[in-house]
Amino acid sequence: MTLIVTGAAGFIGSCVVRQLVAETDELVVSVDALTYAGNPLSLGDAQASPKHRFEHADIRDQPRMQAIFEQYQPRAILHLAAESHVDRSIHGPAEFVSTNVVGTLTLLQVALDYWRGLPEPRRSQFRFQHISTDEVFGSLSATDPAFEETTAYQPNSPYSASKAGSDHLVRAWHHTYGLPTLMTNCSNNYGPYHFPEKLIPLMILNALDGKPLPVYGDGQNVRDWLYVEDHARALRLVLEKGRPGETYNVGGAAERKNIEVVDTLCNILDELHPQSGPHHRLITYVTDRPGHDRRYAINFTKLESELGWRPQENFETGLRKTVQWYLDNPEWVQSVRSGEYRNWLEMNYAGRTQAA
Ligand code: NAD
Ligand code: TYD
Repeated sequence: MTLIVTGAAGFIGSCVVRQLVAETDELVVSVDALTYAGNPLSLGDAQASPKHRFEHADIRDQPRMQAIFEQYQPRAILHLAAESHVDRSIHGPAEFVSTNVVGTLTLLQVALDYWRGLPEPRRSQFRFQHISTDEVFGSLSATDPAFEETTAYQPNSPYSASKAGSDHLVRAWHHTYGLPTLMTNCSNNYGPYHFPEKLIPLMILNALDGKPLPVYGDGQNVRDWLYVEDHARALRLVLEKGRPGETYNVGGAAERKNIEVVDTLCNILDELHPQSGPHHRLITYVTDRPGHDRRYAINFTKLESELGWRPQENFETGLRKTVQWYLDNPEWVQSVRSGEYRNWLEMNYAGRTQAA
């Protein structure tokens, strides 16, 4: 049995692959274009396993995707490849539409052709699993109920709009062509191998370097945080037990204001890596992100009651593990801090003024 995982050299995809290779006997085929966000080192021990293959390929390359399906004859595809960072989508939205919408369309077409040619029972067992985000639902006020699977889509950023577009295509390919799809909409992940453009790893690495910790706006925006290993377990459970055509929300039951996240990180760093003075002194309020969503919160009752999933990690223990991982893995950190990364920091942060 074989699984294809797209976006396998990214933060969440690599976690899924590491788990699958460590805990199952299936062949796992990693597909990744190795953009700035992809790093083969993130695959860890899975890289050298005989149960793993790596295909350096772009999901928008239809002939290549067809050849990969032909060669490996997968029982399912877990589709995680995407442009994933909101701030980058504000600076350059076209790449987001290209990979997230057109790339997903390409995979759907290839998977549909492949699925139609499968004999039973492999045909009815095949799954196209699309990994999406809670950001497609838009922004909540402090008192709104958490997002449910039936909440209307109201994407506000170029990133979430492109993910919403891909979700709609997946829905349509199930409804119109009968492709056995599964979809998950998950809240903010954190954990090891997270690219340091996102809040938590950026703050950890800046703090270790004694650099400012740039909090956007008033720091009161709320995200619901999930440890990445818990997300990977949810995806594997949905793959095995989810009902085709359904969507499942995945969340951490850990709503935190951004400033609370940064405060907690500073406390953990003061303890695990004391430097000259408390890390809190580095907190700096900067110009807000345009269109910044105020609050995300996930209701994952459906996943819990139908499939029995709950997060195993709580936010404080998960954050501590994450900080320790960044302290223990300077080689990985070094490998992602390329010239491209430094250019990004310059572009995103130099123009933000410091709040008084
Ligand atoms: P990431 O940016 O860390 O990784 C994305 C990976 O996709 C990279 O390895 C990159 O090289 C690859 N990729 C990009 N464009 C590609 C293309 N055209 N062809 C092939 N590969 C390509 O992202 P992530 O945080 O691991 O997110 C994975 C998925 O999960 C995304 O679809 C994202 O929308 C979704 N998601 C992320 C979060 C989160 O908090 N990070 C939460 C919910 C959902
Ligand atoms: P991010 O990790 O980019 O995830 P998302 O925007 O997809 O939720 O940001 C998480 C929150 O942290 C979001 O409210 C924006 C905020 N943020 C900062 O305050 N400063 C930063 O430097 C970054 C990258 C994010």
